[in-house]
Amino acid sequence: MNRSDVGIDQLGVYVPRYALPLDRLAEARGVPVEKIHVGLGAHAMAVAPPWEDAVTLGANAAARVFRRGEVRPDDIGLLVVGTETAVDHAKPASIFLHDLLGLPSGCRTFEIKHACYGGTAGVMLAADWVRSGAARGRKALVVATDIARYDLGSSAEFTQGAGAAALVVSEAPRLARLGETTGVFAKNVYDFWRPLERREALVDGKFSVDCYLDALRGAVADYRGGLNGQGGASLLDRFAAFLYHTPFPKMAHKAHRRLVEDDGPGDVAERFERSWTTHVEPGLGLARQVGNTYTASVYLCLAWLLEREGATLEDRELALFSYGSGCCAEFFTAEVLPGCAARAAQIGVQAQLDTRRALTVDEYEAFARAATGTERPAADGSGNWHLAGIDGDKRRYARHAAAERAA
Ligand code: HMG
Repeated sequence: MNRSDVGIDQLGVYVPRYALPLDRLAEARGVPVEKIHVGLGAHAMAVAPPWEDAVTLGANAAARVFRRGEVRPDDIGLLVVGTETAVDHAKPASIFLHDLLGLPSGCRTFEIKHACYGGTAGVMLAADWVRSGAARGRKALVVATDIARYDLGSSAEFTQGAGAAALVVSEAPRLARLGETTGVFAKNVYDFWRPLERREALVDGKFSVDCYLDALRGAVADYRGGLNGQGGASLLDRFAAFLYHTPFPKMAHKAHRRLVEDDGPGDVAERFERSWTTHVEPGLGLARQVGNTYTASVYLCLAWLLEREGATLEDRELALFSYGSGCCAEFFTAEVLPGCAARAAQIGVQAQLDTRRALTVDEYEAFARAATGTERPAADGSGNWHLAGIDGDKRRYARHAAAERAA
Protein backbone atom coordinates (compact mmCIF):
# COMPACT_ATOMS: atom_id res chain seq x y z
CA MET A 1 0.00 0.00 0.00
CA ASN A 2 0.98 3.65 -0.46
CA ARG A 3 1.68 4.90 3.08
CA SER A 4 1.29 8.53 2.08
CA ASP A 5 -2.15 8.03 0.48
CA VAL A 6 -4.13 7.79 3.74
CA GLY A 7 -6.72 10.22 5.00
CA ILE A 8 -10.34 11.22 5.42
CA ASP A 9 -12.64 9.37 3.05
CA GLN A 10 -15.99 10.47 4.51
CA LEU A 11 -17.03 13.10 7.03
CA GLY A 12 -20.35 13.22 8.86
CA VAL A 13 -21.53 15.85 11.31
CA TYR A 14 -24.44 16.03 13.71
CA VAL A 15 -25.56 18.97 15.84
CA PRO A 16 -28.61 18.92 18.11
CA ARG A 17 -31.82 20.53 16.91
CA TYR A 18 -31.83 23.02 19.81
CA ALA A 19 -29.79 26.17 20.27
CA LEU A 20 -29.61 28.92 22.84
CA PRO A 21 -28.92 32.37 21.33
CA LEU A 22 -26.26 33.85 23.60
CA ASP A 23 -27.80 37.33 23.68
CA ARG A 24 -30.66 35.71 25.66
CA LEU A 25 -28.22 34.11 28.09
CA ALA A 26 -26.24 37.37 28.43
CA GLU A 27 -29.41 39.25 29.32
CA ALA A 28 -30.46 36.62 31.85
CA ARG A 29 -27.02 36.60 33.52
CA GLY A 30 -26.57 40.39 33.44
CA VAL A 31 -23.54 40.23 31.13
CA PRO A 32 -23.02 42.82 28.33
CA VAL A 33 -23.85 41.09 25.06
CA GLU A 34 -20.77 42.67 23.39
CA LYS A 35 -18.58 40.69 25.79
CA ILE A 36 -20.00 37.49 24.28
CA HIS A 37 -20.40 38.54 20.63
CA VAL A 38 -17.13 40.50 20.41
CA GLY A 39 -15.09 39.41 23.46
CA LEU A 40 -15.66 35.66 22.87
CA GLY A 41 -16.86 35.84 19.24
CA ALA A 42 -19.75 33.50 20.10
CA HIS A 43 -23.40 33.90 19.05
CA ALA A 44 -25.24 30.71 19.99
CA MET A 45 -24.60 27.33 21.53
CA ALA A 46 -26.08 23.99 20.60
CA VAL A 47 -28.02 22.40 23.47
CA ALA A 48 -28.41 18.65 23.70
CA PRO A 49 -31.95 17.73 24.80
CA PRO A 50 -32.31 15.23 27.67
CA TRP A 51 -32.88 12.34 25.26
CA GLU A 52 -29.46 12.86 23.60
CA ASP A 53 -26.03 12.01 24.98
CA ALA A 54 -22.53 11.44 23.61
CA VAL A 55 -23.66 8.05 22.27
CA THR A 56 -26.65 9.31 20.28
CA LEU A 57 -24.81 12.39 19.00
CA GLY A 58 -21.96 10.17 17.82
CA ALA A 59 -24.26 7.55 16.29
CA ASN A 60 -26.25 10.24 14.48
CA ALA A 61 -23.04 11.71 13.01
CA ALA A 62 -21.72 8.27 12.06
CA ALA A 63 -24.97 7.26 10.35
CA ARG A 64 -24.35 10.12 7.93
CA VAL A 65 -21.08 8.64 6.61
CA PHE A 66 -22.95 5.57 5.37
CA ARG A 67 -25.78 7.48 3.67
CA ARG A 68 -24.20 7.64 0.22
CA GLY A 69 -23.44 3.92 0.21
CA GLU A 70 -19.78 4.53 -0.69
CA VAL A 71 -18.75 2.97 2.60
CA ARG A 72 -20.72 0.13 4.22
CA PRO A 73 -20.71 -0.91 7.88
CA ASP A 74 -19.01 -4.18 6.83
CA ASP A 75 -15.98 -2.21 5.58
CA ILE A 76 -15.13 -0.99 9.09
CA GLY A 77 -12.37 -2.88 10.96
CA LEU A 78 -11.67 -0.31 13.68
CA LEU A 79 -14.06 1.96 15.58
CA VAL A 80 -12.61 4.56 17.93
CA VAL A 81 -14.81 6.97 19.86
CA GLY A 82 -13.09 10.04 21.28
CA THR A 83 -15.13 11.68 24.01
CA GLU A 84 -14.71 13.33 27.39
CA THR A 85 -18.41 13.13 28.21
CA ALA A 86 -18.74 9.36 28.25
CA VAL A 87 -21.85 7.71 29.68
CA ASP A 88 -20.13 5.01 31.76
CA HIS A 89 -16.77 4.66 33.51
CA ALA A 90 -16.18 1.16 32.11
CA LYS A 91 -18.52 0.36 29.23
CA PRO A 92 -17.29 2.38 26.25
CA ALA A 93 -19.52 4.55 24.07
CA SER A 94 -17.99 2.72 21.11
CA ILE A 95 -19.73 -0.57 21.86
CA PHE A 96 -23.14 1.15 21.79
CA LEU A 97 -22.22 2.67 18.42
CA HIS A 98 -20.95 -0.68 17.18
CA ASP A 99 -24.40 -2.10 17.88
CA LEU A 100 -26.50 0.82 16.62
CA LEU A 101 -24.51 1.09 13.37
CA GLY A 102 -24.48 -2.66 12.70
CA LEU A 103 -20.69 -2.97 12.50
CA PRO A 104 -19.15 -6.44 12.05
CA SER A 105 -18.02 -8.52 15.04
CA GLY A 106 -14.48 -8.59 13.63
CA CYS A 107 -14.12 -4.88 14.34
CA ARG A 108 -11.89 -3.60 17.15
CA THR A 109 -13.72 -0.96 19.20
CA PHE A 110 -12.77 1.25 22.12
CA GLU A 111 -13.25 4.67 23.63
CA ILE A 112 -10.36 7.07 23.99
CA LYS A 113 -9.97 10.06 26.30
CA HIS A 114 -7.71 13.04 26.47
CA ALA A 115 -10.09 16.01 26.93
CA CYS A 116 -10.66 17.71 23.54
CA TYR A 117 -7.66 15.93 22.00
CA GLY A 118 -9.41 12.51 22.12
CA GLY A 119 -10.85 12.81 18.60
CA THR A 120 -7.49 13.65 17.07
CA ALA A 121 -5.80 10.89 19.07
CA GLY A 122 -8.28 8.54 17.36
CA VAL A 123 -7.65 9.98 13.90
CA MET A 124 -3.86 9.67 14.27
CA LEU A 125 -4.15 6.13 15.59
CA ALA A 126 -6.50 5.17 12.77
CA ALA A 127 -4.19 6.65 10.12
CA ASP A 128 -1.24 4.73 11.57
CA TRP A 129 -3.33 1.52 11.67
CA VAL A 130 -4.06 1.92 7.95
CA ARG A 131 -0.45 2.85 7.11
CA SER A 132 0.90 -0.14 9.05
CA GLY A 133 -0.98 -2.58 6.82
CA ALA A 134 -2.88 -4.07 9.81
CA ALA A 135 -6.12 -2.76 8.29
CA ARG A 136 -5.86 -5.28 5.41
CA GLY A 137 -7.97 -3.01 3.17
CA ARG A 138 -10.56 -2.27 5.84
CA LYS A 139 -11.42 1.25 6.98
CA ALA A 140 -11.45 2.93 10.38
CA LEU A 141 -14.38 4.90 11.77
CA VAL A 142 -13.40 7.62 14.22
CA VAL A 143 -16.19 9.40 16.08
CA ALA A 144 -15.60 12.55 18.13
CA THR A 145 -18.64 13.35 20.26
CA ASP A 146 -19.24 15.60 23.25
CA ILE A 147 -21.54 17.80 25.28
CA ALA A 148 -19.63 20.71 26.85
CA ARG A 149 -21.11 21.54 30.25
CA TYR A 150 -20.07 24.04 32.90
CA ASP A 151 -21.93 25.24 35.99
CA LEU A 152 -24.93 27.44 35.26
CA GLY A 153 -24.04 31.03 36.08
CA SER A 154 -20.27 30.54 35.66
CA SER A 155 -18.31 32.62 33.13
CA ALA A 156 -17.57 29.40 31.22
CA GLU A 157 -21.33 28.79 30.76
CA PHE A 158 -21.17 30.87 27.57
CA THR A 159 -18.65 28.43 26.09
CA GLN A 160 -20.83 25.31 26.24
CA GLY A 161 -22.03 23.42 23.16
CA ALA A 162 -22.77 19.96 21.77
CA GLY A 163 -22.10 18.03 18.59
CA ALA A 164 -20.29 15.17 16.93
CA ALA A 165 -18.15 14.42 13.91
CA ALA A 166 -17.54 11.02 12.31
CA LEU A 167 -14.58 10.38 10.02
CA VAL A 168 -13.89 7.36 7.89
CA VAL A 169 -10.09 7.05 7.69
CA SER A 170 -8.80 4.90 4.87
CA GLU A 171 -6.32 4.23 2.13
CA ALA A 172 -7.02 6.17 -1.12
CA PRO A 173 -9.28 8.70 0.63
CA ARG A 174 -11.78 10.81 -1.31
CA LEU A 175 -11.89 14.01 0.79
CA ALA A 176 -8.47 14.84 2.20
CA ARG A 177 -5.08 13.16 2.52
CA LEU A 178 -3.45 13.46 5.95
CA GLY A 179 0.17 14.61 6.09
CA GLU A 180 2.56 12.09 7.69
CA THR A 181 4.52 14.76 9.54
CA THR A 182 2.76 16.16 12.59
CA GLY A 183 3.90 18.12 15.65
CA VAL A 184 2.95 17.17 19.21
CA PHE A 185 3.16 18.93 22.56
CA ALA A 186 2.27 17.36 25.93
CA LYS A 187 2.60 18.69 29.48
CA ASN A 188 0.82 17.97 32.77
CA VAL A 189 -1.23 21.10 33.60
CA TYR A 190 -4.43 21.59 35.63
CA ASP A 191 -6.23 23.98 33.28
CA PHE A 192 -9.50 22.06 32.83
CA TRP A 193 -10.71 18.86 34.50
CA ARG A 194 -13.82 16.95 35.51
CA PRO A 195 -13.55 14.70 38.59
CA LEU A 196 -15.35 11.35 38.19
CA GLU A 197 -18.40 12.30 40.26
CA ARG A 198 -19.03 15.61 38.44
CA ARG A 199 -21.23 16.20 35.42
CA GLU A 200 -19.97 19.75 34.76
CA ALA A 201 -16.33 20.52 34.01
CA LEU A 202 -14.11 22.69 36.20
CA VAL A 203 -11.73 25.13 34.59
CA ASP A 204 -9.06 27.68 35.39
CA GLY A 205 -10.24 29.76 32.44
CA LYS A 206 -7.50 32.34 31.90
CA PHE A 207 -4.78 29.76 32.64
CA SER A 208 -6.37 27.39 30.10
CA VAL A 209 -6.01 30.04 27.40
CA ASP A 210 -2.28 30.39 28.21
CA CYS A 211 -1.85 26.60 28.23
CA TYR A 212 -3.52 26.38 24.81
CA LEU A 213 -1.21 29.04 23.36
CA ASP A 214 1.92 27.43 24.85
CA ALA A 215 0.85 24.07 23.44
CA LEU A 216 0.33 25.61 20.00
CA ARG A 217 3.83 27.07 20.07
CA GLY A 218 5.28 23.73 21.19
CA ALA A 219 3.37 21.64 18.64
CA VAL A 220 4.29 23.93 15.75
CA ALA A 221 7.97 23.85 16.80
CA ASP A 222 7.81 20.04 16.88
CA TYR A 223 6.17 20.03 13.44
CA ARG A 224 8.86 22.31 12.01
CA GLY A 225 11.51 20.05 13.53
CA GLY A 226 10.10 17.08 11.57
CA LEU A 227 10.31 18.77 8.19
CA ASN A 228 13.88 17.68 7.35
CA GLY A 229 15.53 21.05 6.88
CA GLN A 230 12.41 22.74 5.43
CA GLY A 231 11.09 23.71 8.87
CA GLY A 232 11.99 27.40 8.57
CA ALA A 233 9.56 28.14 5.71
CA SER A 234 6.52 30.35 6.36
CA LEU A 235 3.39 28.41 7.28
CA LEU A 236 1.21 31.34 6.17
CA ASP A 237 2.63 31.04 2.66
CA ARG A 238 2.07 27.30 2.53
CA PHE A 239 -1.42 26.65 3.88
CA ALA A 240 -4.76 27.72 2.39
CA ALA A 241 -6.50 27.68 5.77
CA PHE A 242 -5.80 27.17 9.47
CA LEU A 243 -8.38 25.31 11.54
CA TYR A 244 -8.05 25.49 15.30
CA HIS A 245 -9.72 23.72 18.18
CA THR A 246 -12.35 26.38 18.89
CA PRO A 247 -13.85 26.46 22.40
CA PHE A 248 -15.00 29.97 21.40
CA PRO A 249 -14.02 31.80 18.19
CA LYS A 250 -11.86 34.42 19.93
CA MET A 251 -9.58 31.55 20.98
CA ALA A 252 -8.83 30.87 17.31
CA HIS A 253 -8.07 34.58 16.95
CA LYS A 254 -5.57 34.44 19.81
CA ALA A 255 -4.07 31.22 18.45
CA HIS A 256 -3.58 32.55 14.96
CA ARG A 257 -2.04 35.73 16.31
CA ARG A 258 0.48 33.57 18.19
CA LEU A 259 1.21 31.53 15.08
CA VAL A 260 1.77 34.68 12.98
CA GLU A 261 4.11 36.12 15.63
CA ASP A 262 6.23 32.98 15.37
CA ASP A 263 6.00 32.66 11.59
CA GLY A 264 8.86 34.95 10.64
CA PRO A 265 9.87 38.59 10.28
CA GLY A 266 7.55 41.37 9.15
CA ASP A 267 4.79 43.57 10.52
CA VAL A 268 2.84 41.12 12.70
CA ALA A 269 -0.33 43.24 12.89
CA GLU A 270 -0.50 43.73 9.14
CA ARG A 271 0.27 40.07 8.34
CA PHE A 272 -2.21 38.89 10.93
CA GLU A 273 -5.11 41.02 9.66
CA ARG A 274 -4.57 39.88 6.08
CA SER A 275 -4.18 36.25 7.04
CA TRP A 276 -7.09 36.21 9.52
CA THR A 277 -9.77 37.01 6.96
CA THR A 278 -8.49 34.60 4.31
CA HIS A 279 -7.03 31.79 6.42
CA VAL A 280 -9.11 31.49 9.59
CA GLU A 281 -12.38 33.42 9.59
CA PRO A 282 -14.01 31.28 6.82
CA GLY A 283 -13.75 28.17 9.02
CA LEU A 284 -15.40 29.62 12.09
CA GLY A 285 -19.04 30.01 11.08
CA LEU A 286 -20.25 26.77 12.66
CA ALA A 287 -18.30 27.26 15.89
CA ARG A 288 -20.00 30.65 16.33
CA GLN A 289 -23.37 28.87 16.22
CA VAL A 290 -22.74 25.64 18.16
CA GLY A 291 -20.11 26.59 20.76
CA ASN A 292 -17.51 24.21 22.12
CA THR A 293 -17.93 20.63 20.98
CA TYR A 294 -14.71 19.48 22.70
CA THR A 295 -13.33 16.49 20.71
CA ALA A 296 -15.40 17.34 17.63
CA SER A 297 -14.54 21.04 17.50
CA VAL A 298 -11.75 21.13 14.92
CA TYR A 299 -13.57 18.58 12.71
CA LEU A 300 -16.74 20.67 12.74
CA CYS A 301 -14.61 23.60 11.55
CA LEU A 302 -13.25 21.33 8.80
CA ALA A 303 -16.75 20.21 7.76
CA TRP A 304 -17.99 23.80 7.65
CA LEU A 305 -15.04 24.95 5.55
CA LEU A 306 -15.17 22.04 3.09
CA GLU A 307 -18.94 22.24 2.67
CA ARG A 308 -18.77 25.93 1.79
CA GLU A 309 -15.36 26.39 0.18
CA GLY A 310 -14.37 22.92 -1.01
CA ALA A 311 -14.19 24.01 -4.66
CA THR A 312 -11.50 26.65 -4.04
CA LEU A 313 -9.55 24.38 -1.69
CA GLU A 314 -9.07 21.33 -3.92
CA ASP A 315 -5.35 20.50 -4.33
CA ARG A 316 -4.47 22.87 -1.51
CA GLU A 317 -3.24 22.12 2.00
CA LEU A 318 -4.93 22.88 5.32
CA ALA A 319 -3.27 23.16 8.72
CA LEU A 320 -5.19 21.85 11.74
CA PHE A 321 -4.51 22.30 15.44
CA SER A 322 -6.09 20.11 18.08
CA TYR A 323 -5.78 20.97 21.78
CA GLY A 324 -6.90 18.87 24.71
CA SER A 325 -6.59 20.32 28.18
CA GLY A 326 -4.41 18.61 30.64
CA CYS A 327 -2.67 18.80 28.08
CA CYS A 328 -1.83 17.23 24.74
CA ALA A 329 -1.94 19.03 21.41
CA GLU A 330 -1.17 18.21 17.80
CA PHE A 331 -0.50 20.32 14.72
CA PHE A 332 -1.18 18.37 11.52
CA THR A 333 -2.03 18.87 7.86
CA ALA A 334 -4.53 17.71 5.25
CA GLU A 335 -4.42 18.02 1.48
CA VAL A 336 -7.87 18.61 -0.03
CA LEU A 337 -8.36 16.15 -2.89
CA PRO A 338 -9.87 16.70 -6.35
CA GLY A 339 -13.58 15.83 -6.24
CA CYS A 340 -13.83 16.78 -2.57
CA ALA A 341 -16.13 19.76 -3.20
CA ALA A 342 -19.01 17.75 -4.66
CA ARG A 343 -18.95 15.30 -1.75
CA ALA A 344 -18.42 17.95 0.93
CA ALA A 345 -21.35 20.01 -0.36
CA GLN A 346 -23.54 17.20 0.93
CA ILE A 347 -22.20 17.04 4.49
CA GLY A 348 -25.37 18.90 5.43
CA VAL A 349 -24.08 21.24 8.13
CA GLN A 350 -26.00 24.30 6.94
CA ALA A 351 -29.18 22.26 6.53
CA GLN A 352 -28.95 21.18 10.17
CA LEU A 353 -28.47 24.76 11.34
CA ASP A 354 -31.45 25.87 9.26
CA THR A 355 -33.82 23.53 11.07
CA ARG A 356 -32.76 24.36 14.63
CA ARG A 357 -35.17 25.77 17.19
CA ALA A 358 -34.06 28.61 19.44
CA LEU A 359 -34.67 27.93 23.14
CA THR A 360 -35.57 30.45 25.80
CA VAL A 361 -33.31 30.54 28.85
CA ASP A 362 -36.10 28.88 30.88
CA GLU A 363 -36.32 26.01 28.38
CA TYR A 364 -32.53 25.60 28.37
CA GLU A 365 -32.46 25.42 32.17
CA ALA A 366 -35.36 22.96 32.14
CA PHE A 367 -33.38 20.71 29.74
CA ALA A 368 -30.40 20.83 32.12
CA ARG A 369 -32.61 19.82 35.07
CA ALA A 370 -34.35 17.06 33.08
CA ALA A 371 -31.04 15.52 31.97
CA THR A 372 -30.19 14.71 35.60
CA GLY A 373 -33.72 14.00 36.85
CA THR A 374 -35.73 10.81 36.66
CA GLU A 375 -38.45 12.34 34.44
CA ARG A 376 -37.27 12.27 30.83
CA PRO A 377 -39.38 14.20 28.29
CA ALA A 378 -40.35 12.34 25.11
CA ALA A 379 -37.84 12.51 22.24
CA ASP A 380 -38.82 14.74 19.30
CA GLY A 381 -37.60 12.62 16.36
CA SER A 382 -34.42 14.52 15.38
CA GLY A 383 -31.49 12.39 14.22
CA ASN A 384 -31.70 8.61 13.99
CA TRP A 385 -31.36 7.48 17.59
CA HIS A 386 -32.28 8.69 21.04
CA LEU A 387 -31.81 7.61 24.63
CA ALA A 388 -35.01 5.68 25.24
CA GLY A 389 -34.50 5.08 28.94
CA ILE A 390 -32.22 4.03 31.76
CA ASP A 391 -33.33 0.73 33.28
CA GLY A 392 -31.65 0.57 36.66
CA ASP A 393 -28.20 1.71 35.52
CA LYS A 394 -28.42 0.29 32.01
CA ARG A 395 -28.91 2.67 29.12
CA ARG A 396 -31.30 1.76 26.34
CA TYR A 397 -31.16 3.40 22.90
CA ALA A 398 -33.83 3.30 20.23
CA ARG A 399 -34.28 4.41 16.68
CA HIS A 400 -36.89 7.10 16.02
CA ALA A 401 -39.95 5.67 14.29
CA ALA A 402 -39.42 7.84 11.17
CA ALA A 403 -35.77 6.74 10.89
CA GLU A 404 -36.87 3.12 11.39
CA ARG A 405 -39.35 3.42 8.50
CA ALA A 406 -36.71 5.01 6.23
CA ALA A 407 -34.12 2.30 7.02
P1 HMG B 1 -14.37 35.63 31.32
O1 HMG B 1 -13.93 35.89 32.68
O2 HMG B 1 -15.81 35.53 31.05
O3 HMG B 1 -14.00 36.72 30.30
O4 HMG B 1 -13.61 34.31 30.84
P2 HMG B 1 -12.82 37.81 30.19
O5 HMG B 1 -12.93 38.80 31.27
O6 HMG B 1 -11.48 37.14 29.95
O7 HMG B 1 -13.33 38.48 28.85
C1 HMG B 1 -13.32 37.74 27.67
C2 HMG B 1 -13.00 38.71 26.54
O8 HMG B 1 -14.10 39.62 26.41
C3 HMG B 1 -11.77 39.55 26.80
O9 HMG B 1 -11.12 39.72 25.56
C4 HMG B 1 -12.36 40.90 27.26
O10 HMG B 1 -11.49 42.00 27.00
C5 HMG B 1 -13.60 40.96 26.40
P3 HMG B 1 -9.54 39.37 25.42
O11 HMG B 1 -8.84 40.27 26.36
O12 HMG B 1 -9.41 37.92 25.85
O13 HMG B 1 -9.26 39.57 23.99
N1 HMG B 1 -14.65 41.82 26.92
C6 HMG B 1 -15.43 42.60 26.16
N2 HMG B 1 -15.44 42.82 24.83
C7 HMG B 1 -16.38 43.68 24.34
N3 HMG B 1 -17.27 44.33 25.13
C8 HMG B 1 -17.30 44.14 26.46
C9 HMG B 1 -16.34 43.25 27.03
N4 HMG B 1 -16.08 42.83 28.29
C10 HMG B 1 -15.06 41.95 28.21
N5 HMG B 1 -18.20 44.79 27.22
C11 HMG B 1 -13.10 32.41 29.52
C12 HMG B 1 -13.51 33.87 29.50
C13 HMG B 1 -12.82 31.96 28.10
C14 HMG B 1 -11.84 32.25 30.34
C15 HMG B 1 -14.27 31.58 30.14
O14 HMG B 1 -15.39 31.65 29.28
C16 HMG B 1 -13.91 30.13 30.36
O15 HMG B 1 -13.35 29.78 31.38
N6 HMG B 1 -14.25 29.23 29.38
C17 HMG B 1 -13.92 27.81 29.47
C18 HMG B 1 -12.45 27.55 29.27
C19 HMG B 1 -12.02 27.69 27.84
O16 HMG B 1 -12.79 27.66 26.91
N7 HMG B 1 -10.67 27.78 27.65
C20 HMG B 1 -10.10 27.86 26.32
C21 HMG B 1 -8.71 27.26 26.23
S1 HMG B 1 -8.65 25.61 26.91
C22 HMG B 1 -9.43 24.64 25.70
O17 HMG B 1 -9.68 25.06 24.62
C23 HMG B 1 -9.79 23.23 26.10
C24 HMG B 1 -11.27 23.01 26.35
O18 HMG B 1 -11.95 22.96 25.12
C25 HMG B 1 -11.48 21.72 27.15
C26 HMG B 1 -10.85 20.44 26.66
O19 HMG B 1 -9.74 20.36 26.19
O20 HMG B 1 -11.52 19.43 26.85
C27 HMG B 1 -11.88 24.11 27.19
